[in-house]
Amino acid sequence: MTADFQDWARSRQVRIETSLQTWLPAANVAPERLHDAMRYTVLGGGKRVRPLLAFASGELSKADDERVTIVAAAVELIHAYSLVHDDLPCMDDDVLRRGKPTCHVEYDEAIALLAGDSLQSLAFQLLAEHQLADTPQMQLEMIKRLAQAAGSRGMAGGQAVDLASVGKVLSLPELEFMHIHKTGALIRAAVMLGAWCGSSLNEDQLMSLDRFAKCIGLAFQVVDDVLDAEATTATLGKTAGKDAENNKPTYVSILGVSRARELAEELRREAYQSLEVFGAPAGRLRQVTDFIIHREF
Ligand code: IPE
Ligand code: IPE
Ligand code: MG
Ligand code: MG
Ligand code: MG
Repeated sequence: MTADFQDWARSRQVRIETSLQTWLPAANVAPERLHDAMRYTVLGGGKRVRPLLAFASGELSKADDERVTIVAAAVELIHAYSLVHDDLPCMDDDVLRRGKPTCHVEYDEAIALLAGDSLQSLAFQLLAEHQLADTPQMQLEMIKRLAQAAGSRGMAGGQAVDLASVGKVLSLPELEFMHIHKTGALIRAAVMLGAWCGSSLNEDQLMSLDRFAKCIGLAFQVVDDVLDAEATTATLGKTAGKDAENNKPTYVSILGVSRARELAEELRREAYQSLEVFGAPAGRLRQVTDFIIHREF
């Protein structure tokens, strides 16, 4: 990771943190415990990869920074909600997230359910109450896109497949379907929503960008599977080895670690190819891609 990328990423992470702090209800506003749980879940942790992707693609489409900050925050809120529910005993049953007790451990299961629900609602509230695009029609398209990415034909659907696959050996296309939905859909939405905040890209360019986003969305979860098997709990800030313990089919259980890593590299190359049409201005997206593939947590 270059120093230039680190500086860029840090400044966007600070911006997203500050914005989320403002937009999340204060912890002293009733119902206090729910608001406290929402803030506990969202603030002060996470790599903020989806916001970084939205900022990088927003730069490519010459989008207004304030608009991109809204969509980046909305996607991160949906992501945070998905983590709270993913960690519940009825799903992955995890006690550690971002180096802290999971939401249902720190509060309780009911609060964790409601915090997740409320984070999702807040995401859509933000998209509805700020101007994101030049026309109302485009703005509605953007809201629809996030709804699709989060719902049963996106993240939530992928999570259903994940749970239904426990103890099974999936074929590679089945595994890809699961990963593209549970993780890829939201990452793809982050890239496209960032780009749609601006209007300088034509249809062909948007299609190339979507191809790019699909590759890194899958790559992200392939690397997550590898890290679950290879990294330590201390580095990850979440319990390592959980996939094997929970009997989940992953790229590691099906292909083994080294072929899973190779697949991530292949997807990185494919992602780069999709960016070729943009030349130098897609440099930030390439850097975020490298971060996704080579990250250690
Ligand atoms: C973890 O996502 C869950 C997956 C979709 C694989 P991240 O690795 O982006 O988690 P944070 O936001 O950095 O904690
Ligand atoms: C989670 O996948 C995908 C989500 C939609 C949250 P994982 O279950 O592998 O994520 P981690 O490893 O718990 O972060
Ligand atoms: Mg899971
Ligand atoms: Mg999990
Ligand atoms: Mg995982």
